[in-house]
Amino acid sequence: MSDQDSIFFRNFSILLGVMILLTIILAVGSSMFQDNLVENLKDRLDRSDIQASIAPAAAVNTDPNAIVEVAPAQQAVPFDGSLDGELIYNNVCAACHGTGAGGAPKLEAAAWEGRIDKGAEAVLANAINGYTGEAGLMPAKGGRTDLTDEQVKAAVDFMTGSL
Ligand code: HEC
Repeated sequence: MSDQDSIFFRNFSILLGVMILLTIILAVGSSMFQDNLVENLKDRLDRSDIQASIAPAAAVNTDPNAIVEVAPAQQAVPFDGSLDGELIYNNVCAACHGTGAGGAPKLEAAAWEGRIDKGAEAVLANAINGYTGEAGLMPAKGGRTDLTDEQVKAAVDFMTGSL
């Protein structure tokens, strides 16, 4: 290596060293500065004290529920929840069972032969859930699914009691 080369190499090494040092200083410095900046911004963005000081003394309550007690929607039970089997039969079931429409068993003992034998539970379940038998289609709760199970039972009891 010539003298000039070694001088260049030395100078270049020094320069390189200085640049590396400078890079480190800048990196550390900027990260410190950044941390500072974030803290500073957080402080500035926290305006709760300002919000509190300019908050209105009173506000109009626009929440309707706060003033009017809203009653929960009443689930309408047909016939006012009556458990009068005859009433329910006349209004819902008689359309088919009174006339035998669609194969519905009329209130005659002959038409109910083999039905009651299944047991009251099974007959009631068929009336509540509906089913398709040999005679035809019995819709669930006679098509009035808003009837309670108890109301259907009252109607079935009335029907089987009047054979
Ligand atoms: C749209 C016509 C229709 C209406 C309305 C109707 N039914 Fe029926 N129901 C039928 C038919 C048809 C059958 C016979 C189905 C079969 O066995 O093939 C039947 C059968 C039944 C049976 C016999 C079930 C069994 O296991 O054999 C019961 C109990 C019954 N209905 C109760 C009622 C009651 C209670 C109502 C009123 C809430 C009602 N039905 C309204 C058509 C109707």
